[in-house]
Amino acid sequence: MLVATALAVLSIPFVEGSCIHESPLTNLRRSPQIAGRDVPVNNFSYIGVTGPLGWTGLSTANVNCSTANVQSPINIDQSIISLSTSNPQINIPNVGSAEFENLGTTVEVVINGTTTFEGKTYSLKQYHFHTPAEHLIDAQFYPMEAHFVHTALDGTYLVLAALFELSLNGTNAKFLDPLLSGPLQAIEKPGSSAYTGPLDFSDITKFFTTVPLFKYTGSLTTPPCTVGVTWLVAGTFLPVTPQAFLGFKSVLKFNARYVQNTPGQQNLIELAASQLPK
Ligand SMILES: *[C@@H]1O[C@H](CO)[C@@H](O)[C@H](O)[C@H]1NC(C)=O
Ligand SMILES: *[C@@H]1O[C@H](CO)[C@@H](O)[C@H](O)[C@H]1NC(C)=O
Ligand SMILES: *[C@@H]1O[C@H](CO)[C@@H](O)[C@H](O)[C@H]1NC(C)=O
Ligand SMILES: *[C@@H]1O[C@H](CO)[C@@H](O)[C@H](O)[C@H]1NC(C)=O
Ligand SMILES: [Zn+2]
Repeated sequence: MLVATALAVLSIPFVEGSCIHESPLTNLRRSPQIAGRDVPVNNFSYIGVTGPLGWTGLSTANVNCSTANVQSPINIDQSIISLSTSNPQINIPNVGSAEFENLGTTVEVVINGTTTFEGKTYSLKQYHFHTPAEHLIDAQFYPMEAHFVHTALDGTYLVLAALFELSLNGTNAKFLDPLLSGPLQAIEKPGSSAYTGPLDFSDITKFFTTVPLFKYTGSLTTPPCTVGVTWLVAGTFLPVTPQAFLGFKSVLKFNARYVQNTPGQQNLIELAASQLPK
């Protein structure tokens, strides 16, 4: 108990970004198991009345989850959703450490970066994970999905999404490795956070700037299901080993919203309600 409390207190300067080389805590800082502060746990869930069918019932702010006719995730039907004609430009500075948080509904790394797409500049806020993947591609499902969430100054969102497929040769996408060496176990409990070791984004940047990307306008896949989100979903998969997948799955549990109607067609909750016997 005492040790955990002391580490939590000692970790505060890391949040404020003090220089790694001047800190007397360099060794601690490099340890991936450093406990972070407590983080707020989301009130929505993926099961029962607080699950996707009940999100609007949690708050009037979530009304679009059950009424908007452009919602995510979707089945990326290649006869309807086309590939982007360009890739974004992405700059994610490598960092010595970042906060990794368990929000109860996902685990996310809080990070900075800048992405330019179709002439608009977005700020990267965080990336997080879903098990199983939320998007389908031609009705096929995948074990895991990562979302790199960006916002622009006008309040609009851009999400870069990557679907994972199980690796047959023991390879993980490189950006997963620093999370697996300890931080993921350290944030097993919802509401906990930890500090990662060094993060290198060169591989994931190269991935999103070179692979084919499906482009469509959708929503956030979590409450308040904000509309007008630009989605770029990679059409090439990232590898995740069965061991890494089991590690993520045991912490994330089931956190995928059900697949929504084709963009522009009636919200499925509204549609189902209209079909109930009077
Ligand atoms: C969850 O609900 C509680 C009680 O209504 C509230 O205080 C808290 O801020 C909510 N948490 C989030 C992350 O919205
Ligand atoms: C719901 O979506 C509409 C567009 O369909 C948007 O104008 C409105 O701001 C959204 N409402 C909320 C509460 O997000
Ligand atoms: C992101 O930028 C903020 C504001 O400049 C800074 O406080 C924070 O430490 C940065 N985060 C990382 C992971 O570098
Ligand atoms: C594993 O397989 C992937 C996809 O087929 C390939 O790109 C990668 O180079 C392979 N890695 C090793 C270590 O064999
Ligand atoms: Zn997400």
